[in-house]
Amino acid sequence: MTLTNKQILLIISGGIAAYKSLELIRLLKKDGLTVRAILTRGGAEFVTPLSVSALCEHPVYTDLWSLKDESEMGHIRLSREADLILIVPCSANMITKMAQGVADDLASTCLLASRTPLAIAPAMNVEMWHNPSTQNNLNTLAGRGVHFIGPMVGDMACGETGMGRMIEAADIFAWIQNYFAQGNALTGKYILVTAGSTIEPLDPVRYLSNFSSGKQGYAIATALQQAGAHVTLISGKADLRAPPEVNFISVQTADEMNEAVMNSLRAKPYDVAICTAAVADFKPIKTSAQKIKKTDDDTLTITLTKNPDIVRGICASPHRPALVIGFAAETENLLDHARQKRERKQCDWMVANLVGQTDNHVFGRDENAATLITATHETTWPQCSKIQIAQKLVAEISNYFSKDKGLNNVKQFRT
Ligand code: PMT
Repeated sequence: MTLTNKQILLIISGGIAAYKSLELIRLLKKDGLTVRAILTRGGAEFVTPLSVSALCEHPVYTDLWSLKDESEMGHIRLSREADLILIVPCSANMITKMAQGVADDLASTCLLASRTPLAIAPAMNVEMWHNPSTQNNLNTLAGRGVHFIGPMVGDMACGETGMGRMIEAADIFAWIQNYFAQGNALTGKYILVTAGSTIEPLDPVRYLSNFSSGKQGYAIATALQQAGAHVTLISGKADLRAPPEVNFISVQTADEMNEAVMNSLRAKPYDVAICTAAVADFKPIKTSAQKIKKTDDDTLTITLTKNPDIVRGICASPHRPALVIGFAAETENLLDHARQKRERKQCDWMVANLVGQTDNHVFGRDENAATLITATHETTWPQCSKIQIAQKLVAEISNYFSKDKGLNNVKQFRT
């Protein structure tokens, strides 16, 4: 879609990732957006006002006290005229100022004076990200409905690796496209998403689990929420922040996830269920009350018993949503196994992704590649970010409802 007529106020704060904001401006301009930019003092240490204004084709604003800037475009107008304010990169300092309501420069004053929707792409060192002070401030912003685009896990300019690396410009651009394109496509729809891995305790200190990080499921919950849906996210183990304004339920075991899903379906009618969680198929038949002791035996036998098949239970339920989407994680014969799974579990759609290979270890990574399998067609989405996979899926769901309005309205009133 083209974004002509949309206006972005881009705030570039101080951080090495500021260079990515230049590529973002290029992508936004190419797609027809108007971009006005504010460069903070820190931001100007990394990119020059000249580069930013040349790419924006508008003057860049830097100084709250500049008579010239104020007469050209007052700081109140700057933020109010925008359809979306973006902070790329968003430093820990900027996050703190926003959370505390500090207005000591042009960027923070614009933010305090505005109710325009705000999305931030955090970028900082891993320790700064995990610092309780930053986390508290992020929680405050999440509570105010600020959208987070990233960060991701990766190598950083400081030589460390971990959470805090800013997401790539192309992904921020995809997020913005989705934000405007999906607009209100799923307004009024109730959607349940499962994500993360379940853990099955063996004893008080050990468990069986898998490598799912929850990234794919959380990206889907975020994209759905952007499209206006009411989202319930039922998550197993995942070291991720729940998207703002999502009804978040945290669970550990497959049994707990099953119970949370069934309770949610009973509580209100859902239009869609998307099961991205990597649910353990088996659990220990008995969880030892005490730590299992090492003996002289070289082997230890643990008997496992089947967990409930949650997605199958959703499909068989009298409260079945109109659209049930499973994810198939396969290590071989991807499409054949996924097609069989769709039929066996009675899902409407199955999203097939290849996992566990050394060159495509989808678990925990920021990228994925998938094929959407429905009763009538199959669509392959080549390797791209999990955010983009989420957006492609949300576009398919929006299409489904726009083609099927009459049927959907009937289903909305089921008891
Ligand atoms: O979390 P990430 O690191 O981002 O990785 C994403 C992912 C690879 C986990 C995700 O894209 C994915 O494929 N999720 C499904 C994982 C899985 O359990 O696949 P499966 O083929 O074993 O199960 C098929 C479907 O049945 C899934 O929708 C699953 O949620 C569901 N299931 C499985 C077992 C069970 N007991 N109950 C279930 O509901």
